[in-house]
Amino acid sequence: MDNVTLSGKNIIGLENFSADEINLVLKTARSMKKIIRGKEKKLPDLKGRAIINLFCENSTRTRTSFELAGKYLGADVVSINAATSSMSKGESLRDTLMTVEAMGVDAIVIRHKAEGSAEYASKIVKPIIINAGDGAHAHPSQGLLDLFTIQQAKGRLAGLKVAIVGDILHSRVARSDIFGLTKMGAKVHLAGPKTLLPRFFDFDGVEVHDNVEDAIKNADVINILRLQLERMQTGLFPTPREYARVFGINEKRLALAKEDVLILHPGPQNKGLEISNDITYCENSAIRDQVQNGVAIRMALLYLTLNGGNS
Ligand code: NCD
Repeated sequence: MDNVTLSGKNIIGLENFSADEINLVLKTARSMKKIIRGKEKKLPDLKGRAIINLFCENSTRTRTSFELAGKYLGADVVSINAATSSMSKGESLRDTLMTVEAMGVDAIVIRHKAEGSAEYASKIVKPIIINAGDGAHAHPSQGLLDLFTIQQAKGRLAGLKVAIVGDILHSRVARSDIFGLTKMGAKVHLAGPKTLLPRFFDFDGVEVHDNVEDAIKNADVINILRLQLERMQTGLFPTPREYARVFGINEKRLALAKEDVLILHPGPQNKGLEISNDITYCENSAIRDQVQNGVAIRMALLYLTLNGGNS
């Protein structure tokens, strides 16, 4: 692991990460977390570096945490929201990328509704590209923060049973979690309505169930996904009430999992739909830890890609 480095690497998806690279990010995030919890949240490591957050889809957690992560490390960070930029006047993604590149930025964090947009950006401009979510394809920093949250709570990843429940089909989080978790030796169990599961799925270390009970039985971790209503055609499940009844995670269902099961949800939550209120705030819930760990992981990614350091 000593010669592993992410220096200069574009962060597009966890399919392009080795287990050693994932371990490097998790190790670096552990140090970053101490900084977030400390009093003085301003390091000199990225002083003189400029980062643009280019967000063409809405976001609360991801955008804010990338922004704070860059600032905690001393970089200058500017966030652009597509709705209030010239993209709303019809400027293309290519021209927008070239415009921000010309301003001298070192990294572009990009979220866009089109799958492949982050990879496309990496072919158009020279700054480091970090994918903050491209359509249903990938959300690598979320995948890494999920791994980090699990590792911090359970002390390991290998051998754990992790259930991912809900709208797998439209979820970039599920895809990044699957690549990350299987590379680290966890067993992944997917569950959701048949219409929200991938039709053909053959992936080592992953089992697919159309019955949520089978997936969460004896699980060490349950990651509950948001129903991505904005990406759906209508008719993929009968009614919200029916979805909550058959697939929603509530106290009664939770009893099937291990007693110390860890509950994750990437947010934003559809309360009463995929998750009940009592689950969000129960003692097994690590949903708020995920948010803090998200800042630590994004600090680690910016530090490792921009600073040239390898830990
Ligand atoms: C996720 C996203 O945008 O992909 N949210 C997030 O980044 N915290 C999941 C979601 O929107 O459901």
